[in-house]
Amino acid sequence: MSTQHDSGPRRNSMFRTKTVEQSIQDTEEPEHALRKSLSALDLTVFGVGVIIGTGIFVLTGAVAKDNAGPATALAFVAAGIVCALAAVCYAEFASTVPVAGSAYTFSYASLGELPAWIIGWDLVLEFALATAVVAVGWSGYVQSLLDNAGWHMPDSLAGTNEETGFGFDLLAFLLVLLLTGILVLGMKLSARVTAVVVAIKVAVVLIVIIAGAFFIDSKNYSPFIPKAQEQPAGAGLDSPLIQLMFGYAPTNFGVMGIFTAASVVFFAFIGFDIVATAAEETKMPQRDMPRGILGSLIICTVLYVAVSIVVTGMQHYTRLTVDAPLADAFKATGHPFYAGVISFGAAVGLTTVCMILLLGQTRVFFAMSRDGLLPRFFSRVHPKFRTPYRSTVLLGVVIAIVAGFTSIEELASLVNIGTLFAFVVVAIGVVILRRTRPDLHRAFRTPLVPWLPALSVLASLWLMLNLPAETWLRFAIWMAVGVVVYFLYGRRNSRLGKSG
Ligand code: ALA
Repeated sequence: MSTQHDSGPRRNSMFRTKTVEQSIQDTEEPEHALRKSLSALDLTVFGVGVIIGTGIFVLTGAVAKDNAGPATALAFVAAGIVCALAAVCYAEFASTVPVAGSAYTFSYASLGELPAWIIGWDLVLEFALATAVVAVGWSGYVQSLLDNAGWHMPDSLAGTNEETGFGFDLLAFLLVLLLTGILVLGMKLSARVTAVVVAIKVAVVLIVIIAGAFFIDSKNYSPFIPKAQEQPAGAGLDSPLIQLMFGYAPTNFGVMGIFTAASVVFFAFIGFDIVATAAEETKMPQRDMPRGILGSLIICTVLYVAVSIVVTGMQHYTRLTVDAPLADAFKATGHPFYAGVISFGAAVGLTTVCMILLLGQTRVFFAMSRDGLLPRFFSRVHPKFRTPYRSTVLLGVVIAIVAGFTSIEELASLVNIGTLFAFVVVAIGVVILRRTRPDLHRAFRTPLVPWLPALSVLASLWLMLNLPAETWLRFAIWMAVGVVVYFLYGRRNSRLGKSG
């Protein structure tokens, strides 16, 4: 079978597509093959392991305080719906094209090489920055535990100083390096470690929900949706793009505030798409992928809604803290023991989030390199561990440095816009692949095509529009750089281009 559909004139080469058969065949070349060892349960654990993290443990407080009050639970529902729509599209693609690389691979098989490059480049941004964000969040929790034990990190090594804007986060840096080492040693080890840590993390979330339910004061729910408040003039680029586009005065709270909050807490759901990046390492991807993706997403949505209802009921939203809101709500109601347990669980839990994000990131890079769009040097797997050790080490070191020198807030919204963009491309890809390759076996079929994917596109775009204008600007710059790199390197070195 031909490896490309498009053998037309050169101007069309950007839209050459890699066939699904070719994608699967590539994974069978011995020196580029990953070990197939994961089951549906492994994938679900993997998903929950990466999904529950900084989003619920850290961002809930800031969002309740600044954007939505007790209605933060509704923001989680809104973000969960956007993710569920995307998940159904992801599940079809992942069960049809079971190859490392997630949305990147799906796009290569449906939309063509340039769109695939764009999405791969976008996912590198998403996963790398999200790894850094979570590593910094982890460092914060560990430092708070160390403080409890009377041991303080020197200021210059404790992370970015809010006043000077400078500092180095030694713990975040070391965490990323340590996890890089674990990933190089092999997937199975990672999955086992993950299972134990996920159990601790879920237990802590359940403690928040069950113990916290006894400390709810219903007065804290009034008003459930706080009245809209105008933002100070000059908020400019900080304001959601949608508010600037339609020229009305930017506000916080109110019904629009719920959507602003949803565009932020969306971060809490990032990760289910990463389950799809492990397709190639799954024993029976056609059956297990959809189960793993949808299962982990449903579990997390239920937990998030419950946690946010409990926490905003324990403490009035105006008094929630932004660094460790869940633990602090217990302190505020006079239960420091629970607060300590929660801080410990959060610190342990964020470790797996960080590790799996890093894994997803190296796998996308690996897939792009195997296709020749990035230097092939990086896609050699280790002769003994069968892991893509070169890309893992390179990216691990870069991310460790980024984590050392950056602060959370600016990066989280950039991660969100990148992920939502990937959702848009995947949903469009499902519709296109149905038309171009109706013959392919689809273990999982998205219902109501093309209507459901269309709704998924609109829902993702809606959340994107609720992100600040400056986030759009940064995203545009990153993508522009990506297009330049493609034309200077990827287009000429593409394996598909050479074989055609
Ligand atoms: N969803 C992950 C988190 O909340 C990325 O940290």
